[in-house]
Formats: sequence, C-alpha cells, structure tokens
Amino acid sequence: MQDDILSVLYSEAEIKTAVARLGKAIKQDYQGKNPLLIGILKGAIVFMTDLIRSVDDFVEIDFMDVSSYGDAAVSSGEVKILKDLDTSVAGRDIIIVEDIVDSGRTLDYLIKLFQTRAANSVKICALLDKPEGRQTEVTADYIGLRVPNEFVVGYGLDYAEKYRNLPYIGILKPEVYED
Ligand code: PRP
Ligand code: MN
Ligand code: MG
Repeated sequence: MQDDILSVLYSEAEIKTAVARLGKAIKQDYQGKNPLLIGILKGAIVFMTDLIRSVDDFVEIDFMDVSSYGDAAVSSGEVKILKDLDTSVAGRDIIIVEDIVDSGRTLDYLIKLFQTRAANSVKICALLDKPEGRQTEVTADYIGLRVPNEFVVGYGLDYAEKYRNLPYIGILKPEVYED
C-alpha cells in the first residue's frame, strides 16, 4: 500500500496539531449550544472520531452518506443520499464535518438541504481544503490544512475505496489512477 504513495503531504503529527486547533475553536464558538456534528461518510470518519475527542464540551453526532465520486478520480457532479440522518436538524446548530472540500458540490448540496430542513445554523468543518478544485462558492468555516491540486489519500480519503486507513495524508502516484 505504501508503495503507491509518492510523498507524505501531512504527517500524523501535523494532522494532530490541526485537529486540536479545530476542536478548540469549536469549543469556544459553541459554548452552551450542544452542536450537532454531522460526519459525511465515508471519508470523514477518521477525522470525525479525532475531532469530537478534541472538543472539550457537549456535542452530539450523526452521519450521512452521500456520494458524488463513486470509484472515479474526477467528480461526476451528482450528489446522491445513500443514508440519511437519524436526528432532526430543525432548530439545531449544525457543523458538517468533511475530510475535504474539493469542487464543493457535496457541501453546496448539504448546506441547502439542512437550511431547507430549518437548521438554526449551518457551518462547515473540513480537515482539508483544495481551493484549486472549486466549482462552487462554498468555503469552509473551519479548515485544518490546505492541499495542492493533487490526488490525496489517507486519514479517511480513498481512491477506489483504498488507502482510507493510512494514518497520514499522502499524494497518490499518478500511475495508480492513470491508465
Ligand atoms: C469525497 C470527499 C468529500 C467529497 C469532496 O467523497 O470525502 O465528501 O468527495 O468533493 P467535492 O467537494 O468535489 O464534492 P466521495 O463522494 O468520494 O465519497 P467517500 O467520502 O465515501 O469517499
Ligand atoms: Mn466524502
Ligand atoms: Mg471518495
């Protein structure tokens, strides 16, 4: 698995520092609000589990599974709900937890969905931001780290469902996804 990685972009230690900073900011901004953190499957799972343990205050969690990429390296532009929430978002302060904002289509769709469902507020916490990928106006409110316009994997991010279990963020060798 490691042979498919061109280079390590962010180490475990760098990720840990970024996650701690985000957790602290969320604690400060949401005092007494009991926010609902919504992790977007599957990419956000690793970040979500570390993030919630870095927020030293009451939070609730739920998950949604939406997919726009399938097994392709390039977004299809379609967003599908594969699993909806168990929790009502009406009146709640929502923090959408994502591993990466790339085109922004997934988040653009989700922000509108939660506003339609009468959330009190909707913010985005993304571990990674890839500004060069953007096809929408979406910006995350909490951003961990910026990434270049490369195919990055690890710490939840996959290529064709692989590499999610790498403990760091790595750049995938182009020969792995180019044919
Ligand atoms: C990836 C990633 C984000 C989204 C970002 O998910 O985890 O959710 O794409 O891309 P966008 O900003 O262009 O919408 P994907 O749909 O691949 O599903 P996965 O999380 O199960 O890997
Ligand atoms: Mn995802
Ligand atoms: Mg994916």
